[in-house]
Amino acid sequence: MNPDVLLDGATHRDGRAHEVWAWMREHDPVHWHEPGDFPGFWSLTRHDEVREVLRDPVTFSSASGILLRPLAQGADPGGGRTLALAAPARHQVLREAVAGWFAPRNLRRLTESMEAVARTAVKESLAAGRIDFVADVAARLPVEVVCAFLGIPPADRPDLVAWAWDAFCAGTATERSLAHLEILEYFTDLALHRRDTPGDDLVSVLTQVTVDGEPLPIDDVVLNCDSLFVGGTENVRQTLAGGMLALLEHPAQQELLRADFDGVAATAVDEILRFTTSGLHTMRRATRPADVGGRSVAEGDLLVCWLPSANRDAAQFPDPDVFDVTRTPNRHLALGIGPHYCVGTQLAKLEIRAVLREFLAQARDVTLDGPVERLDSLVVGGPRRLPLRLT
Ligand code: HEM
Repeated sequence: MNPDVLLDGATHRDGRAHEVWAWMREHDPVHWHEPGDFPGFWSLTRHDEVREVLRDPVTFSSASGILLRPLAQGADPGGGRTLALAAPARHQVLREAVAGWFAPRNLRRLTESMEAVARTAVKESLAAGRIDFVADVAARLPVEVVCAFLGIPPADRPDLVAWAWDAFCAGTATERSLAHLEILEYFTDLALHRRDTPGDDLVSVLTQVTVDGEPLPIDDVVLNCDSLFVGGTENVRQTLAGGMLALLEHPAQQELLRADFDGVAATAVDEILRFTTSGLHTMRRATRPADVGGRSVAEGDLLVCWLPSANRDAAQFPDPDVFDVTRTPNRHLALGIGPHYCVGTQLAKLEIRAVLREFLAQARDVTLDGPVERLDSLVVGGPRRLPLRLT
């Protein structure tokens, strides 16, 4: 088994990555990859080591980037500046500034409008009869929700929905980059406007934050908006699509959820998060020499935590390959762990719940309507196209 196949998006698209990770967990759980197109790095595949590394941001820093990038791409432009990529002191300031927006009190305000967006998407899908669940349902709610958080006027949201689709789902690499540039330009105009006339939204909050007595530069506000937008849309979309596919492939589990939605939804959402684990990896850099799983990690070494692998570790989850919507306990790492634990956790869970509730309540019969296409990426996993027939 050659662990370097994990560097090929096709391994993730074709579903072969789980075989590789299972072998690595057993034979080589902390594996060194020699440099090539990518820098050299350690692959961490077990729950224990991934947890240990993510819980210690002083020894294992996210500040230089959390995604494995080909050497040709150079350093991450968000390094040290966005919430996810901030060193501990700066991270605390930024996290405190935005955390209130993700608190239950604020989320309650959004619940009704989330349910309305989900209801409309499902109604329109039923009327159409045949849909691509990814584009027609899963991609819609997360963009609407993040737009509401960022205070993006409803009239501008269709543009954001279209750019987000082009930037992350469709087209060639050049088309994706161009669409992403549109998003960054939009956020730059928005941030400049909100700095001068703040409103009740997250962009305004970011323009008012001070770090070491200085307001955040506009570029940093834009990078933070972008990472909230990307984090808040891509992962929810892929978890929803992966969750729907898992429910179709496990009809008995779907029945359990249909029979007692309110009783089973909480454990079902966590199991969908574990089983699908849309964020494929997160990365850290060692700030000092350390022992990780018996291997000697040097200062400056990169460590890639493969989250779907940690979430199938039999030492943590009995029958890890079984999809069980009543699984408990379920200490999955799909949303991370430690100080950088996903700030959108409760929001993401509400969104997944709202869509599943509407979908299962309104559509009595759902079947696959053609081949499922999967994303070809090292960063985000799950269906790119999920054709369904509904009645
Ligand atoms: C199913 C949906 C989601 C998944 C699977 C997911 C996954 C993750 C993971 C694994 C991390 C930790 C990364 C690390 O430790 O390096 C993270 C952090 C983060 N997520 Fe999410 N996420 C989801 C939804 C959201 C939503 C809805 C938002 C916001 C609208 C969001 C915004 C963020 C941000 C800003 C961080 C960085 C937090 C920090 O560094 O303090 N995510 N997410």
